[in-house]
Amino acid sequence: MTDAATDTYDAIVLGAGAAGLMCAATAGQRGARVLLIDHADEPGKKILISGGGRCNFTNVGTVPERFLSANPHFARSALARYTPGDFLELIVRHGIAWHEKTLGQLFCDGSAKQIVAMLLDECARGGVEIALGNPVSAVDHADGLYRVRHGSRASAAPALVIATGGPSIPKIGATGFAYDLARQFGLKVVEPRPALVPLTLGGDEVLFRELSGVATEVVVRTGKTAFREAALFTHRGLSGPAILQISSYWRHGQPVTIDFLPDRPSGWLREAKREAPRMGLRRQLGALLPDRLAETLAEKLGLGGELGALTDGKLQAAEQALAAWPFHPNGTEGFAKAEVTVGGISTQRLSSQTMEARDVPGLYAIGEAVDVTGWLGGYNFQWAWASGRAAGEAIAGLVAG
Ligand code: FDA
Repeated sequence: MTDAATDTYDAIVLGAGAAGLMCAATAGQRGARVLLIDHADEPGKKILISGGGRCNFTNVGTVPERFLSANPHFARSALARYTPGDFLELIVRHGIAWHEKTLGQLFCDGSAKQIVAMLLDECARGGVEIALGNPVSAVDHADGLYRVRHGSRASAAPALVIATGGPSIPKIGATGFAYDLARQFGLKVVEPRPALVPLTLGGDEVLFRELSGVATEVVVRTGKTAFREAALFTHRGLSGPAILQISSYWRHGQPVTIDFLPDRPSGWLREAKREAPRMGLRRQLGALLPDRLAETLAEKLGLGGELGALTDGKLQAAEQALAAWPFHPNGTEGFAKAEVTVGGISTQRLSSQTMEARDVPGLYAIGEAVDVTGWLGGYNFQWAWASGRAAGEAIAGLVAG
């Protein structure tokens, strides 16, 4: 039962981030009375810091295969119904200039602030009420209504959307609140892990930390997954887009292998020996890789002297080592540095059409809170937009129906 001091709405959306803003605007514009609550003092903080301040807002290469989830098919429906082209249409309608950078990544020419302003404008058009700056202290469900206490207010609605994201970057207000709430209503949570995160090196591999600042294009692999992008050595281990990508697939104890020379054909060192027998391995590598990296790799391979003095067998072994150099990360830089979280609210009992929990009518989960995680490069925002849209449309459908 609601008391006299309880404000009632058609839907309450918890979390005014990418997914929550999209969901609230969608439902509001289709006639639902929506309250959007965030404990932060401003909406969309992660959008503001994304893409180096320019927000990589989508990726034209979006396909379900570029998302990790215990159920790889879950994201398919929402992604098909709200595409990168749909979001781009919104961007263009708001007069936001954009460009494609690399690998299908779309960025604002100006600032990520434009994306937040656009979403707030869309919310305003939908008459969405936004309540900022107060933590949610309690949520309960009785008589078909979800009642939320936030600050000194109590608000209630028949639909509640969990859009409070994942715990990565706690210093800007990220929390694991979504998981607590999901568990409160009997939903399972797939173990959350930091993803799109630098890997740390220890043991003998600390020597590579001396290369801090050196970057080169590589192919990095773990298990059956591989990415070709830049890798960067850091004072703690490995970073750069290739490493961030593979970190989402990496598990403690697994090695990560790096192909430092992905364009060299098999036999290239033996060929080099025939062409320039007086040249050493260090110089050969120096022509292809950053100098300090070439020096470290040549040292570690322990092949001094001229190529002409080395057997083909030794050169073949060196080639193989350079093509699959094993690293044994001892960890990651954790949620403090992770761009996203792998895992989250299990999709098992969520509808892939509406994002509603099957056994908990009126409860929805969207965005990063859910066990769907995209690759680096705009995929995570595309999931936030698509899942937010799906839930927003479903909620509006209930109101209209
Ligand atoms: P999001 O985190 O955006 O929003 C959750 C909201 O819930 C926040 O506003 C938070 O304050 C609020 N909240 C949390 N706990 C709460 C509580 N207890 N009570 C009330 N409110 C609460 N992705 C991409 O596609 N392209 C990119 O360029 C980048 N760049 C990038 C850079 C950096 C530094 C980071 C950390 C992340 C990215 N990402 C990205 C990832 C992207 O930001 C992320 O996947 C989306 O913001 C997820 O959207 P959500 O709405 O699900 O969560």
